[in-house]
Amino acid sequence: MKFYNKYILPKLINCVCSQNDIGRIRRQFVPMAKGITLEIGMGSGLNLPFYDPSKIDLVMGLEPMTPLRKLAEKKALELPFEIDFIGLSGEEIPLENHSVDTVLVTYTLCSIPDVFKALNEMKRVLKSSGKLIFCEHGKSPDDHIVKWQNRLNLPWTKISGGCHLNRHIPELIKKSGFKIVALDTGYSSPLKLLSFNYKGIAVPE
Ligand SMILES: C[S@@+](CC[C@H](N)C(=O)[O-])C[C@H]1O[C@@H](n2cnc3c(N)ncnc32)[C@H](O)[C@@H]1O
Repeated sequence: MKFYNKYILPKLINCVCSQNDIGRIRRQFVPMAKGITLEIGMGSGLNLPFYDPSKIDLVMGLEPMTPLRKLAEKKALELPFEIDFIGLSGEEIPLENHSVDTVLVTYTLCSIPDVFKALNEMKRVLKSSGKLIFCEHGKSPDDHIVKWQNRLNLPWTKISGGCHLNRHIPELIKKSGFKIVALDTGYSSPLKLLSFNYKGIAVPE
């Protein structure tokens, strides 16, 4: 499992997250980030090309998996805005209260072990005027798909780096003290187990 997690899993995550349907979602949402921006679970840096440099003061990429962070660091060398990397998990964000304008989280709330702790940390570091931009896959609205999401969730978490198929993303966000001000949902590919997307914006309540 050590070999798998170190050498195979990062490549698998990079490959799955590079799909075109996800790329289209990144293109729509990432340019909304502005000011001091914290990206939670930056992965291999697939959002980096979509930031609008004219709106960004600083991007901080928090990513606990070293091989993924290294891929993102390579991509960052070519970009016209400042990027800092944080090699920690979302449950322990080493930033001051109310110091960030935007938190961006894409396809990561599915994988964070203590997702409530991480969302509370995101709320703590956001300014009161700040925004949480989220694009995540999760629980399908269709009973026959949810049945399979629930059945396959445990084995899937084992091979996917802890990704859950069946998290209801808006519920998690609202229960953590955010108000959702924009929400768009729908399948992004025929692979329905993995592709019901929740995309939107939330603000601290
Ligand atoms: C499916 S990948 C998505 C990566 C990237 N956000 C993207 O959109 O391509 C899930 C990411 O969640 C990260 N992750 C897992 N546990 C985490 C935690 N506790 N805190 C922050 N990120 C975490 C993984 O390291 C991985 O980069």
